[in-house]
Amino acid sequence: MAPIRLGYVGCGFMAQKVHIPNFTSLPNCRLVGLAEVRSELGQQVQQCWEIPRLYTDHTELAADPEIEAVAVSADFALQGEIAKDLLSAGKQVFMEKPMAVSVEQAESIVAAGKAAGTKLMVGYMKRYDAGNELVRSKVDEFRATGELGGLTYVRNHGFCGEWICNLDTPMVTSDVAKPAAPAETPEWLPSEWVRPYLGYLQQYTHNINLLRWFLDAGDQVHVRHVDLDDNGYSGIVIFDMAGVRVTLETGRVSHYRWDEHTQIYFEDGWVHTWAPPLLLKNTPAEVEIYRAGETQEISRPIPKPNWTWAYRREAEYFIENVRNDTPFRSSGEDTLTDVRLFEDIFRMFLDQRRG
Ligand SMILES: NC(=O)c1ccc[n+]([C@@H]2O[C@H](COP(=O)([O-])OP(=O)(O)OC[C@H]3O[C@@H](n4cnc5c(N)ncnc54)[C@H](O)[C@@H]3O)[C@@H](O)[C@H]2O)c1
Repeated sequence: MAPIRLGYVGCGFMAQKVHIPNFTSLPNCRLVGLAEVRSELGQQVQQCWEIPRLYTDHTELAADPEIEAVAVSADFALQGEIAKDLLSAGKQVFMEKPMAVSVEQAESIVAAGKAAGTKLMVGYMKRYDAGNELVRSKVDEFRATGELGGLTYVRNHGFCGEWICNLDTPMVTSDVAKPAAPAETPEWLPSEWVRPYLGYLQQYTHNINLLRWFLDAGDQVHVRHVDLDDNGYSGIVIFDMAGVRVTLETGRVSHYRWDEHTQIYFEDGWVHTWAPPLLLKNTPAEVEIYRAGETQEISRPIPKPNWTWAYRREAEYFIENVRNDTPFRSSGEDTLTDVRLFEDIFRMFLDQRRG
């Protein structure tokens, strides 16, 4: 079968370090077009990766009838607007997270895809990590068999750390200013809280999205309690995810690696997983399973396939699914829930401050 003809919009950090190398390494994908508003940067990246066509912006690329699918990475609030135009132009779209910075923006993006009959995949690479896939299959298995008793509690701890890991893929930079992001944050959010809101959202959208997937909770999620510091970042949020109490611990630590782990407790054991630093290639999440009872056993199953990188598997999955036309595991529709939860968290946080 002919390779999928892909276009890429926005050749900044994530494009050059992660997505362009991954998409161009896939045998069933051909990167045929690049769009970049900073023209000199675009020309250099085009040459570097030998991309046949260069466009001045995403609307020009969207008009190329030979491009079937497009990947996008740009500013938080901007990339969703770009994705919306591409979906409306008939392209299948992969975009970086976050999809949107308000429910209103998110709904308009999903509506554009529905109206045009096109699909959006959001770049929640953790859902494609081989270790996280193993966690999900074990949690499903234990819930179905009852082997570890009932599921009682889930905890995610995310204090971040060093995520780039000396990744030495070459990168071209530019001094030209990037385009300004549109003002799409929720109307109720006071302007002085826009930066903290975006900072919290862009980091922890990964964690909440992953927790919902581990628990197969879909949209059955609500925020029960918010306890954040004055910085609107560090603290604890408690959710109900499909009837399970889930805590999210957020904060910062100076750490040479990545301080993030999730523990899923059953009455008679747990599934525990440690996330790799994001840009550490070919290193999936680690998994531990504890079984109480007679044997008292701890096992550390090795994720398969060995030595894989979540971002590359995400790219593979997108291209395969464009070909097969099946629903995406991290679709725009599913992501609506994450966007709603961030509005809920910050609304509760600000309401508490007002007393
Ligand atoms: N999944 C992850 O782990 C992860 C990690 C880091 C960043 N991200 C996300 O990646 C996104 C991109 O981050 P980045 O650091 O690569 O951004 P960046 O600012 O370095 O690059 C964006 C590029 O898009 C270009 N651009 C903007 N509008 C355009 C248009 N209409 N047409 C063509 N080009 C256009 C800009 O000129 C810029 O070069 C962010 O939204 C961030 O949330 C995700």
